[in-house]
Amino acid sequence: MIKKVPTHQLKPGMYVVDLGSKELAGKVRHPVGFIADGKTLAELTGSSLKYVYIDTVRGLDTDDALAVPIASLEAAPSSPEEDIVTRGEVEHAQRIHASAIDTVSHVMRDVKLGHHINQTAVHATVDNIVSSVVKDHSALLCLGMIRSKDNYLMEHSVNVSVIVTLFARHIGYDQAAVHQIATGALLHDIGKIVIPPHILHKPGKLDNDEFSIMRSHAAQGRDILREAGFDAITVEMAGHHHEHIDGTGYPDQLTADALSEQSKMLAIVDVYDALTADRCYHNRLTPHEALRNMLTKSGQHFDATLLQRFIKSIGVYPIGAMLLLSDGRVGMVVANAGEKSLAPVVRVFFDQRRHCYISQQDVDLAATVPKPLTIVENLDPRSLNIDMRRFFE
Ligand SMILES: [Fe+2]
Repeated sequence: MIKKVPTHQLKPGMYVVDLGSKELAGKVRHPVGFIADGKTLAELTGSSLKYVYIDTVRGLDTDDALAVPIASLEAAPSSPEEDIVTRGEVEHAQRIHASAIDTVSHVMRDVKLGHHINQTAVHATVDNIVSSVVKDHSALLCLGMIRSKDNYLMEHSVNVSVIVTLFARHIGYDQAAVHQIATGALLHDIGKIVIPPHILHKPGKLDNDEFSIMRSHAAQGRDILREAGFDAITVEMAGHHHEHIDGTGYPDQLTADALSEQSKMLAIVDVYDALTADRCYHNRLTPHEALRNMLTKSGQHFDATLLQRFIKSIGVYPIGAMLLLSDGRVGMVVANAGEKSLAPVVRVFFDQRRHCYISQQDVDLAATVPKPLTIVENLDPRSLNIDMRRFFE
């Protein structure tokens, strides 16, 4: 759990994950990490920092009532500037993203070896994901744009958990429910660990027998999580994430009334993330193309109301989407809340006309008057041979 703690309440043994103020952080020599001794403590308490953020999983907790879990700060108002992903937030999100991938890998390995799943690590990871979605705005969503075909299962699990967190918060689920939904999403494909690799990674189309083995992962995942003692919602989400509301899904061909809202939400996010990733059998779609594709299944595969709410939660130009602007610059959407939904903030880093990387700059499309810039198109970065990793360097 990430908590915001007044600096005068810090003590040795706590683990600092963020110094909060980017301006003041540069003046403090203590890097993020353990407060190992009194000297480090004195440096923090003697600085101008009023608050820092600690991770109570990696270090000592505080019993101070003023220390607020970050996930409960979501109601706090934020200025438009605060909605834009900053470099520090991206770096913080990169650490959480890597650690979440590590957790999913360990869970998969433990299941394969017949060991117990470390639920404490799973819940700590989910806490960090939820906190990051709240605190770092959309940095984790941007990271979801970097995909590796070799690590699809882990990255997909983490991305689905991140996106469903945004969705669940948008719908208005409370903190505990968001955690539960994010957990179900993180572990929804755990049943794939029992699918033979030659089927799981087959580059071509699966034959009928292979497809039926592949489809067994939903029921297998449900059974694994139930046996491991996870809550009913997490178990149900894993078991039903491939069901369609018209009864054409699997494994049980359930229809809308028999499916929980959480499963229907996961079914939407699962397909959205899969369509926007490169797979061995299809090239990724842009977020825009993916949503257009999914809308053709609205009311059949997907709950129509929930699909509309999902689109509203991620925005017309979702965070992480690549856009080509009318001046030839290419960038990633880094803010799209509220009035920015049709005129987002785009962090440009490539010039299509000169075909070269350029210094990163945030372009607020709502504020480019008197020389208005417009969005030319949603772009697949591969079409210009753009290396997305350059965005995060
Ligand atoms: Fe699945």
